[in-house]
Amino acid sequence: MSDKMKVILDCDTGSDDAVAIMMAILSPKIDLLGVTTVAGNKEINFTTDNTLRVVDMLRSDTPVYRGCATSMVAKLLPNRHGDYTGMTGVKADKLDEKGEVISYHHDCLPMPAPVSREQPEHGVWWLIDTLMKSEGDITLIPTGPLTNIGMALRLEPRIAEKIKQIIFMGGGFKVFNATAASEFNIWADPEAAQIVLTSGVRTITMVPLDATHQANFTREDEAELRKIGTPLAIAVADLLDERIVAYNAYQPQDLPDSAPLHDALCVAYLLDPEVLRDVRHMRVDVDMSGGFADGQTICDTRAYPDRPENCYVALGADRLRFSRMVIDMIRAFR
Ligand code: BDR
Ligand code: CA
Repeated sequence: MSDKMKVILDCDTGSDDAVAIMMAILSPKIDLLGVTTVAGNKEINFTTDNTLRVVDMLRSDTPVYRGCATSMVAKLLPNRHGDYTGMTGVKADKLDEKGEVISYHHDCLPMPAPVSREQPEHGVWWLIDTLMKSEGDITLIPTGPLTNIGMALRLEPRIAEKIKQIIFMGGGFKVFNATAASEFNIWADPEAAQIVLTSGVRTITMVPLDATHQANFTREDEAELRKIGTPLAIAVADLLDERIVAYNAYQPQDLPDSAPLHDALCVAYLLDPEVLRDVRHMRVDVDMSGGFADGQTICDTRAYPDRPENCYVALGADRLRFSRMVIDMIRAFR
């Protein structure tokens, strides 16, 4: 019997999701059962196509299942999502020197168009089937809006007992990006996030912006990737460059000329828990009011919270430990 960790990724691929997928495919410690896709950074056609691009680039046969194209209910209220452009929740209105819009995620990743095809089954049904048939040994790593996982839990609540753990990228303790109170993945589908947090899954770990912004990649990291020179390393260097330009334009970071690779930090944590720092067990709920705090992850730091703790929240990260892991994995792939 294999002692690899069984993992399912659920992604709105996206430049940082792409690196999360790469790590899960490249790690000899992970058995990646499949990737389900969700709308988020981009529409579902793009997030699915981008996922296939990554899988193909790594010459992997990981199956890809298309999931939900829209949030559970959030978009039903016309004013709820304010005046944000596109799907991203973050305005992208600055131009670079070529006159192109500066963006965290372009529609298509800088990789060849995919040859492989998505699976015929819907991602949510595949998640349910796979989890129900499992021996309770699968880790879920969602790195986009939690729509697919929320839907799966609503359709078949018994999967909650089957999931070994969920490590999700999303939320903020004191750091936010979509609105003054919310992080994008949770803001994009607050109801789904609340369903997940109150599902009773044994172990849930939230990797919020407070942690991911402490684990940024720099121009030196980009240069190291370019020096490796393989098509994979160049593709990651290119998307890192795009991200650094976008963060400099819209969200300048404490570490100058750097950008987070949020989603990849979740996979890194599975491989090496020391990559996250200051992980606290807390009560976390999601605001779904439609008001100023819509999509906020409310972390109860009181000594005696009214409701039981349901989530480990990472408040810090070890930047160099993380970047070394990512770059070494990319270097090893020929
Ligand atoms: C999250 O939102 C998306 O843009 C990223 O892929 C990441 O999952 C960060 O807020
Ligand atoms: Ca993402």
